[in-house]
Amino acid sequence: MPTDPEAFTLDIEFVQNPHEIEAKLRVEAPVRLVQTPRGMRSWLITRYEDVKQVLTSPDVHKDEGLRAQLIAERHGASFPMLSPAFRLLEVHMLNSDPPDHTRLRRLVAKVFTTRAIARLRPRIESVTAQLLDAMAHQDRVDLVAGFAAPLPMIVICELLGVPEADREKFGSWVEVITGAGDERLVEASELFLAYLRELVAAKRAEPGEDLLSDLVAVTDSGDRLTEHELVAMAELLVIAGHDTTVSLIANGTLALLRAPGQLKALRADPSLVPNAVEELLRYDGPVHIATTRFTTAPITVGGVEIPADEFLSVSLLSANRDGERFTDPDELDVTRPAGGHVAFGHGIHHCLGAPLARLEGAVALGALIERFPALRLADGADPARWRFSALMHGLEELPVATR
Ligand code: HEM
Repeated sequence: MPTDPEAFTLDIEFVQNPHEIEAKLRVEAPVRLVQTPRGMRSWLITRYEDVKQVLTSPDVHKDEGLRAQLIAERHGASFPMLSPAFRLLEVHMLNSDPPDHTRLRRLVAKVFTTRAIARLRPRIESVTAQLLDAMAHQDRVDLVAGFAAPLPMIVICELLGVPEADREKFGSWVEVITGAGDERLVEASELFLAYLRELVAAKRAEPGEDLLSDLVAVTDSGDRLTEHELVAMAELLVIAGHDTTVSLIANGTLALLRAPGQLKALRADPSLVPNAVEELLRYDGPVHIATTRFTTAPITVGGVEIPADEFLSVSLLSANRDGERFTDPDELDVTRPAGGHVAFGHGIHHCLGAPLARLEGAVALGALIERFPALRLADGADPARWRFSALMHGLEELPVATR
């Protein structure tokens, strides 16, 4: 609970109206204390330059062990994020500092290559076409449930070699683990962990044509992933790669349907789609707050001194709307020169899956607007409802009319 009277909570209102609230914060209090939805005291950073500084600061760390120590000191050992299963799932590259991070990232990068991703294109295209066919039978569809969610789940499950029958339970665990941190977190983490252990064992016993089998076998100068590193890596790829891509497609569709001129420009020139994907990532990206970081020494950000041992909430969403960096930041412009956004993070943890996300986003959005020339928001779709989440920026649903 907040001990600081200045703290405000990243609550449901913040999640519903982030752009409006953060535009104010960038001017009035660009570095300020808040309480996160998981009940932690943290410093919210909202300006582009400050965000980049923090994401590359040598005094800002991620190490899961140190983080757990800090949480225990602050909040007591029964805090949900300290449950053994959740903690085990969290020991992966995104929660590591060099040299562990460097080593883990290098091993994965050896198999998660641009070529391996490009090979997925035909499959992504055919899954997309199937899902759009199914949508065409209905006048009104929830684009999240009917299109944006199933596509990345199928792709990530195929990439990792997760059997089709398990995808639904997979999806439900992912939803809880990336959610607001309620009491279901402990159980979902335990079930997910047990499942992934079995999956890794199965790949070891009988390797398939999939990334997880490749990860089991990968070596780098004699180095290889331990059993637990494999499990945590699989978890990271699912957690990091699923919900985010869902929101790229859904938030992107919403933004385009709200800006008919932009949608028209894109239809007139489909070669703009990859550029539009970058702009949509900037305009309303899937990750609101970057994953938890903490200071190990005092740092000065935007003129504010943050002491050592403090948690940081780095708002990527806000940085991408900073008028100091982007001209007319609140305007969607699919012809805006790409580059500079921080939707995939910044620094050593910059998204490893960005090429896959870009490919899925471009295939999905390109095919969607081509297939449904009359696509529009269904009655009642706006104002959109955003899902309550500690870090993510995703829609509850997106009702659309297909004709
Ligand atoms: C890291 C965003 C899709 C795998 C990150 C980070 C962001 C991000 C912001 C850095 C987080 C931080 O520093 O706290 C996104 C977005 C995506 C997407 C917006 C979709 C539009 C994917 C996909 C995969 C993936 C499809 C893999 C299947 C990863 C991994 C990391 C990561 C492994 C950790 C990298 C590291 O620690 O070095 N992503 N991501 N992401 N992402 Fe993504």
